[in-house]
Amino acid sequence: MSMLELKNLTKTFGSTVAADDVSFTIDKGEIFGFIGPNGAGKSTTIRMIIGALTQDSGSIFLDDTNISKDRHYKDNISYVPGDVNLWGNLTGDEVINFFMKVRNYKNTAYKNELIEKFRLDPKKKCKTYSKGNRQKVALISAFLTDAKLLIFDEPTTGLDPLMERSFHEEVARAKSEGKSILLSSHILSEVEKLSDRIAIIREGKIIETGHLDELSHITRIEYIIQAKEDLSKLDELPFVHEFRVEGEDTHVLIDNDKAHDFLQTLYPLKPTKLQTLPPRLEDIFMRYYEGGRDGS
Ligand SMILES: Nc1ncnc2c1ncn2[C@@H]1O[C@H](COP(=O)(O)OP(=O)(O)O)[C@@H](O)[C@H]1O
Ligand SMILES: [Mg+2]
Repeated sequence: MSMLELKNLTKTFGSTVAADDVSFTIDKGEIFGFIGPNGAGKSTTIRMIIGALTQDSGSIFLDDTNISKDRHYKDNISYVPGDVNLWGNLTGDEVINFFMKVRNYKNTAYKNELIEKFRLDPKKKCKTYSKGNRQKVALISAFLTDAKLLIFDEPTTGLDPLMERSFHEEVARAKSEGKSILLSSHILSEVEKLSDRIAIIREGKIIETGHLDELSHITRIEYIIQAKEDLSKLDELPFVHEFRVEGEDTHVLIDNDKAHDFLQTLYPLKPTKLQTLPPRLEDIFMRYYEGGRDGS
């Protein structure tokens, strides 16, 4: 049931290993988040998938066929780069029409719906568009195709929050139509909300893949506490992070795999309120930034 499978992809630029043995699989109808800081190797990996770069080693399968054996595999992929370049002298409408023609796609009602939804002025020449507007033209064109795999590299960097929501809705709609979506981002919250599964890449290497729940061993949970006794001594415990007091509440961030130890320490302090917030990808990341998956 895999739509896309990457097997041991490696790509080097001089002495930089931009992608280092990258492997992951995206299932049909799945939204897959590809997360990592700038320079981690996301765009390099994506460029290999769309055939803009050739890998040094490894292979790519689309719908179980090695893409090197299928000259037309790109017909099944729609790709929007992070920084969109368009033909300056064409209007947004002309560009969208061009892509529709190339893809033999004729649903103008949906086209008009998307133009309205993304609040694009389609009559203006592309050279007058801001980065965000160029992005809208490319996103609209991508959503309009019937490609089975949509690839968005840092899709919402130039969009304002309202447009970001429109983007999220369209991604969900594509999924409901059975399409697979690869969403690459260094903005964790944008991917976290949408993705069925995520892969985290850092310095060219995939360091984690899975459902957010499955990554709980490397996540931290925020507890909001009130207690009869003084809570300040919690701050000294090795598995307590970001100790802070806000009014009556004390907030602490606890390594998820240390919940038992934490609750045991907390019990004698006579807690009167205990609330938790779900793990955030930011915290997963922080733990890696702090020095490896042990958090040491
Ligand atoms: N065409 C290129 N030539 C040389 N180095 C490159 C090239 N493309 C990317 N790199 C390097 O490869 C690494 C990964 O870059 P990239 O894939 O763009 O990361 P990301 O998209 O995650 O920000 C970076 O160190 C970047 O400088
Ligand atoms: Mg990039």
